[in-house]
Amino acid sequence: MLSTCIQHLKSQPLWILILSSLGFLSLYKHTFSLLKLVFITFLRPPKNLKENYGSCALITGSTDGIGKAFAFQLAQKGLNLILVSRNSQKLRSVSSEIQAQYPHTKIKVVVLDFSGDITEGIRVVEEAVEGVEVGVLVNNVGVSYPTARFFHEVEEEVWRRVVRVNLEGTTRVTRAVLKGMIERKRGAIVNVGSGAAIVVPSHPLYAVYAASKAYAPLSLSLSLSLSLSFITWNMKEKTNTLKANTLYVDQFSRSLHVEYKHFGIHVQCQVPLYVSTKMASKLASIEKSSFFIPTPENYAQAAIRRIGYEARCTPYMTHSIQWFFASLLPESILDSWRLSIGLSRRGKIDIPY
Ligand SMILES: NC(=O)c1ccc[n+]([C@@H]2O[C@H](COP(=O)([O-])OP(=O)(O)OC[C@H]3O[C@@H](n4cnc5c(N)ncnc54)[C@H](OP(=O)(O)O)[C@@H]3O)[C@@H](O)[C@H]2O)c1
Repeated sequence: MLSTCIQHLKSQPLWILILSSLGFLSLYKHTFSLLKLVFITFLRPPKNLKENYGSCALITGSTDGIGKAFAFQLAQKGLNLILVSRNSQKLRSVSSEIQAQYPHTKIKVVVLDFSGDITEGIRVVEEAVEGVEVGVLVNNVGVSYPTARFFHEVEEEVWRRVVRVNLEGTTRVTRAVLKGMIERKRGAIVNVGSGAAIVVPSHPLYAVYAASKAYAPLSLSLSLSLSLSFITWNMKEKTNTLKANTLYVDQFSRSLHVEYKHFGIHVQCQVPLYVSTKMASKLASIEKSSFFIPTPENYAQAAIRRIGYEARCTPYMTHSIQWFFASLLPESILDSWRLSIGLSRRGKIDIPY
């Protein structure tokens, strides 16, 4: 049987053999990746967060959407909570809801508006974590523009708010919590990134948001150059200010992952695509969940299973499938597609030449 196969192969022209080998290798690679994805998503046991990292979790932006869902599910796993968000009434209401469902959970709340001067708020966070075994930090808080806009149309206050909340907030809360984790030699930090910065090559008309979730020079300049192919406008000065300010979520996470793994601290960037939250409703008119768009509860459940493993992951299975298909398309097609979406969301057809 084997010798017949070999004879048959020998009788084929060389180009057929080369093409078949390439096809076989590609099939093998994709089958292996698919099996790995199924294993990671459904079969690999999640880490015991309390035992591995500590008894308490701190979550920013925890009064709605993904952050609130994280809070409920971490309470279900037996962790106490420090909830950080801007609205004291919503914080009280979320903590009562959690306590009604999980009466043993100890909850502290910190009212902190990340869009302003957060020095005093960070001092309160430092006080709140003092003497508490914060094992899991979820840097979830994040904002974008209210509507799609060319960069030069975005009011200074709006882009500054995105930079402050997404970058300064994540960076300073991480520093506040890291000290205790280093002393205890254990901890897990989850930074919530976005597919806007990583899955697609650009996110035109949301340039500062996408850049804030990735590494500035790449995402910001790609998104801006797409927008700018429609207009002539000198924004050199503003771009330089932004480049200096824009740290990253993805790059920040990857570098910290390498820096702190020897301290027993696991840093991870999680990359969601659309999740049916208030943010998705405002930005993309997504009002309900679907096969590709999970509820925040389903998303958080998948996200918690991934804590402590990869340095970067897309926790929700159908998001990974979308990422795979996006990776098959040429960047120019993805760029044009994202630009057309941005323009249609901008809602005005008059392009500001
Ligand atoms: N939803 C998606 O499709 C999607 C996709 C990719 C990435 N993400 C990322 O996931 C994270 C969570 O998004 P989400 O969709 O859950 O958003 P969301 O539904 O808008 O919830 C955001 C949370 O952050 C709080 N918050 C907003 N601005 C704040 C500020 N200045 N100071 C303190 N807290 C503030 C909100 O408080 P209030 O309750 O007071 O509003 C709320 O608790 C973000 O980092 C976002 O970039 C989301």
